[in-house]
Amino acid sequence: MKILITGAGGQIGTDLLPILVGRGDDVAVFDLAPRPEGCPAEVEWVRGDITYAEEINTLTARFRPHRIMHLAAILSAAGEGIPHRAYRINMDGTRNVLEAARLFGVEQVFFTSTIAAFGPGLTSPVGDDVPLRPTTMYGITKVAGELLGEYYEANFGIDFRGVRFPGLINAGIPGGGTSDYALFMYVDGMRSGGYESFCRPDAVIPFMYMPDAIRAMLELMDAPKADLGRSIYNIAAISPTADEIADAVRARIPGVDLTFAPDPARQAILDSWPDVLDDSNARNDWGWNHEFDLEAMSDDLMPKVKALIDAQGENAPAHA
Ligand SMILES: NC(=O)c1ccc[n+]([C@@H]2O[C@H](COP(=O)([O-])OP(=O)(O)OC[C@H]3O[C@@H](n4cnc5c(N)ncnc54)[C@H](O)[C@@H]3O)[C@@H](O)[C@H]2O)c1
Repeated sequence: MKILITGAGGQIGTDLLPILVGRGDDVAVFDLAPRPEGCPAEVEWVRGDITYAEEINTLTARFRPHRIMHLAAILSAAGEGIPHRAYRINMDGTRNVLEAARLFGVEQVFFTSTIAAFGPGLTSPVGDDVPLRPTTMYGITKVAGELLGEYYEANFGIDFRGVRFPGLINAGIPGGGTSDYALFMYVDGMRSGGYESFCRPDAVIPFMYMPDAIRAMLELMDAPKADLGRSIYNIAAISPTADEIADAVRARIPGVDLTFAPDPARQAILDSWPDVLDDSNARNDWGWNHEFDLEAMSDDLMPKVKALIDAQGENAPAHA
């Protein structure tokens, strides 16, 4: 299968690329960032800006992918700092990808939406079809992306599908999400002996471990269309409080100093997101099931974080 991935230089793409190559897919990447160290040799890496239609059109016309996985975006916390740039990348970028798919006969576009598509005041667990009233530029652009993709499916026959990811955790470099505190407890806890989270100890949002997130993408991407009752699916795994994450880290790093100093802006974003997602549509339609709970994730993550710190030394991820 020929797959073009936008924005694969980030947190998700870094873990996704070796898995796609490993299962035999022919992969090209379109990203503003240079080819990272460790990117599988089989992957074609093209640098470009998703806000320029001609750049993504040129690659799509040449590579002729069966599918585009559209990951390129500016995430929540970063997007609040540069809202107009976030608007251009997330809105124009998504339209450009859908247009490239229409122009060059791409069968499927996979979209990575987010819990940031939701706004405050929803009753937990939050289902797929609630009012979407996000308060961040990131969330606004993701809701628009979901709707635009459904428009292209209805009007131009593109198979559009995707997930609303919770905050994702892996041994990687977070891309400016408001959920980054969780990973930094593990990374800075191990590297510096402590971390001060920018949220309250009782802050709670849905999280997912990256291997589950990638498996969800692959399973939904490959699911028979006839099984799918919708385009965009909530997917859920765990909803620990920040303090419960801290306890999981404390149990694995004796003496680690994990404290909390809530930043009003970022805490307000966390408060506007759901605590718990209802993902029963994903479970019923394409058999979604998460594997990693907080304990299993922590056990699996610790050695990987250690390897990351050993490999990157001073360049390991800094505080978000
Ligand atoms: N990581 C999470 O917790 C999370 C949660 C929910 C949804 N998502 C979604 O998943 C997708 C990938 O997330 P991630 O965490 O890997 O993001 P990231 O920020 O780590 O990576 C984003 C990538 O997009 C690229 N990019 C940015 N602007 C670009 C432009 N103008 N043109 C081309 N490329 C550009 C960056 O260079 C980077 O490689 C995003 O769409 C994000 O909204 C992520």
